[in-house]
Amino acid sequence: MFPKGDDFFEKRTKRGSETLPEADQDCGILPIFAGGKSHFASYIMPTLTVSEILRQPKVGDIVTVKGWVRTFRSNRFIALNDGSCQGNLQAVVDFEAFPEELLKRVTTGASLAITGELVASQGAGQTVEISVQKLEVLGDCPTESYPLQPKRHSLEFLREIAHLRMRTNTFGAVMRVRHAAAFAVHQFFNDQGFFYLNTPIITASDAEGAGELFRVTTLPADGAPKKEDGTTDFSEDFFEKPTNLTVSGQLEGELGAMALGKIYTFGPTFRAENSNTTRHLSEFWMIEPEMAFFDLNDNMELAEAFCKHIIRYVLTHCQEDLAFLDQRLEQEEKSKPQDQRSGQGLLEKLQFVLDNPFVRCTYTEAIDILKDSKPNKKGQFKYPIEEWGADLQSEHERFLVEKHFKSPVILFDYPAKIKAFYMRLNEDGKTVRAMDVLFPGIGEIVGGSQREERHDVLVEKMQAVGIEPELLGWYLDTRKFGTCVHSGFGLGFERMVQFVTGMGNIRDVIPFPRTPGNAEF
Ligand code: 4AD
Ligand code: MG
Repeated sequence: MFPKGDDFFEKRTKRGSETLPEADQDCGILPIFAGGKSHFASYIMPTLTVSEILRQPKVGDIVTVKGWVRTFRSNRFIALNDGSCQGNLQAVVDFEAFPEELLKRVTTGASLAITGELVASQGAGQTVEISVQKLEVLGDCPTESYPLQPKRHSLEFLREIAHLRMRTNTFGAVMRVRHAAAFAVHQFFNDQGFFYLNTPIITASDAEGAGELFRVTTLPADGAPKKEDGTTDFSEDFFEKPTNLTVSGQLEGELGAMALGKIYTFGPTFRAENSNTTRHLSEFWMIEPEMAFFDLNDNMELAEAFCKHIIRYVLTHCQEDLAFLDQRLEQEEKSKPQDQRSGQGLLEKLQFVLDNPFVRCTYTEAIDILKDSKPNKKGQFKYPIEEWGADLQSEHERFLVEKHFKSPVILFDYPAKIKAFYMRLNEDGKTVRAMDVLFPGIGEIVGGSQREERHDVLVEKMQAVGIEPELLGWYLDTRKFGTCVHSGFGLGFERMVQFVTGMGNIRDVIPFPRTPGNAEF
């Protein structure tokens, strides 16, 4: 890592007014010096990122910057972007001082190294620009075949060229915000005394018991060995038993919590569910904290504080990107019919979530609200709510959050029948200490629960859903050896990134989305 700050800048830059040594002619492909103003050797030319230059512009410094051309106007103004921030650095070329052949190669997408003096900008839109003294085309970019042109491309089109889309303003912003959010996750848990635990990606268990598994095998696709009864003989497989990619690190996370107290995971999870929605991926990243001695209430408090921390962090650290995404969303909203507009800008929505406590509501209360709701009575729900016990669909969750409470909501105490086997059974015998955090525009962003800590009740619950307790002996051991009340939850990272960036489709907040029928790149 480089030290940042004034010192650093001083060491890496030289004042333009100083006389600099003779140019090193071996340093590049086409070293050109304009006007014979300054001469310098490559070893004293500091390479700075556009972000460093724009954040702390030092007029008079001679710097080198490398990046890709966004636009080249009037044979004079190059907008150079290096991905370090939303902004471009304007590079001003005195075209008479450079060969025409070289300037022709300055096309959108080409990579350049530019050395020159930072000068106060005459034009609007930037405070500083670089007056080009040396220009190298590092990589040409043929205009005819380059799919990204300086114009608005649809998100659908960009999805097809995901290998290039991170070079656009929108995807650059989303990926930088995604990074900041990931950093905020680690910061939050580290500050709260949690340990980052890595749970296995390949596992023999189905943590959610939903059977949406991607099998991992080295058996041949054709002619896998069979047992006498005709079923596949997994004893010949790599792990000598059926294995799959994990759907959740929770079960192993619980083992960590029962030793280390408070842990969290942050890793990829995989679900072979055939959901073609704007909220589902087949490969997504999940953060799963698990805490010994936490009950459901403690769990809800933590989930709310955690969500707010991520939002606060990106609001503080990604102002430029969020301002861009806010504008983008505003434009997008304008093209929607009035009744489908959210009415709140991105920044406003993020601030609103920060400033207000999440509403807490039991499943039973929610069902009463939904039963009595206008869309239910008018038959506008695709899945009408008729009775207690119904599973809530995204349309119901969004009604509660966006229309009824107009705030994030934590629903808790769900019917045992619609939730996973590991959740703590309530005294009523029919509900479990489950909680889902529901967000505006997203629906479920967090799912969690207090865990069933009683060995015998857990065994019964497993048997009731057809899970053989012997297969999860290691999980049951925690209930045998020093069991305790404990809780945890899972936050879908992409759903959170969707929320903070305002992107409507989850495929646009992960670099290379995996969805049914799509594993490109
Ligand atoms: O509600 P889920 O299925 O809960 C679990 O996996 C628990 N084991 C978590 C725990 O208690 N440790 O998933 C948790 C969250 C959801 O709320 C959602 O945000 C996200 O993961 N999620 C998905 N995100 C993208 N694509 C999918 N297919 C997702 N499925 C769940
Ligand atoms: Mg869930």
